[in-house]
Amino acid sequence: MWKHAVASVCLLVAACEEPPPPRAPGEIVGSVEFGGKLARQRCVICHKIDDRGGIVGPVMTEAVKLAVDRSRTFEAIAADLKAKRPADYEKKRVRIEAVLAEPDPERRLTLWLDAHLVDPQFDNPMSRMTVLPLTDQERADLVRWLMSLR
Ligand code: HEC
Repeated sequence: MWKHAVASVCLLVAACEEPPPPRAPGEIVGSVEFGGKLARQRCVICHKIDDRGGIVGPVMTEAVKLAVDRSRTFEAIAADLKAKRPADYEKKRVRIEAVLAEPDPERRLTLWLDAHLVDPQFDNPMSRMTVLPLTDQERADLVRWLMSLR
């Protein structure tokens, strides 16, 4: 019962936020629900989500497909960057090589998405996506939500 009461109050008070989900030791557990809410506030300026939003970036479901492709072919992307823009590669080496070092495809996609949110230019100096100020928890929520769009 009290939960319903709290929910109704939250509907009226915009600033009323539920606490983030608990973290496992050493690992931030993202919430699909929080990620979706956040994306609808912060990413819609450029990406369409559920048919609403900007057109600067690809529709979010398409953006996720692009991310899946990039993380699957990341060896080639990194090699290409290293060959064609060695200075850019060198600047972002630590982040790039952390993604390369992950053999598990799911974990690699998680890492790639997280790196893309921290620094959209890390593997693509031409990216027009801006850096958004996000906490570690917010990034984990967004990554979980993005993975759920597949
Ligand atoms: C200022 C506009 C802008 C904002 C804000 C923005 N994006 Fe993007 N995003 C882009 C553009 C443009 C691309 C297309 C590729 C590129 O230029 O990086 C993109 C690409 C992506 C991709 C696909 C990766 C790729 O390499 O193509 C993902 C995933 C993504 N954005 C997620 C997000 C999420 C999640 C948010 C909110 C936290 C967000 N974006 C906010 C502009 C934006």
